[in-house]
Amino acid sequence: MSKRSFGLFGLMLMGMFVLAACADPAQPTATPNSSINPTAASGQLATATPSSGATSAPQPTQAPSEPDAGAGQATFATNCTACHNTSDQTLVGPGLAGVGDRAANRVPGQSADDYLRTSIKSPGDFIVDGFGPIMPQFGTLSESDIENLVAYLKTLQ
Ligand code: HEC
Repeated sequence: MSKRSFGLFGLMLMGMFVLAACADPAQPTATPNSSINPTAASGQLATATPSSGATSAPQPTQAPSEPDAGAGQATFATNCTACHNTSDQTLVGPGLAGVGDRAANRVPGQSADDYLRTSIKSPGDFIVDGFGPIMPQFGTLSESDIENLVAYLKTLQ
């Protein structure tokens, strides 16, 4: 292709662009856009309810070694209330009101904590007068469960 014909070709190309631009008929630019109505749903969106109940106090976190009477109460409710009242009323086993004080004098040489621990881990070691040896051993309870239970039992008055 010669330099000249290329120039001609280029000219033609340019001409086509110019023509195309000129030939573009005036489009109506005011296309009505009626599909969007922003007010319709806004009322409902605005009524998001604040989450209620988010105000419950966080549980205080205890050091693992520190007995937690509150946790002990929960363990007691799950494992022990079938047989023990926390009052002095006998159920299947003795009512446990005041057991912390009693515990100190149950078995010579055993502190209250020792007695309560043993009562849970090895109930047959000491049988309270008037009751049968029917309290089960709680082998599934962890050491900290037992310490928490002991702490809870000592709060019973
Ligand atoms: C199946 C019934 C039964 C369950 C369950 C039971 N106990 Fe007992 N418990 C007894 C009986 C009966 C006695 C009295 C006889 C004895 O000394 O073992 C007793 C005695 C005790 C004593 C001694 C009370 C005292 O005055 O010296 C303690 C402490 C005790 N239980 C704590 C617990 C705890 C804590 C749990 C739950 C982890 C529990 N028991 C679950 C029946 C039960």
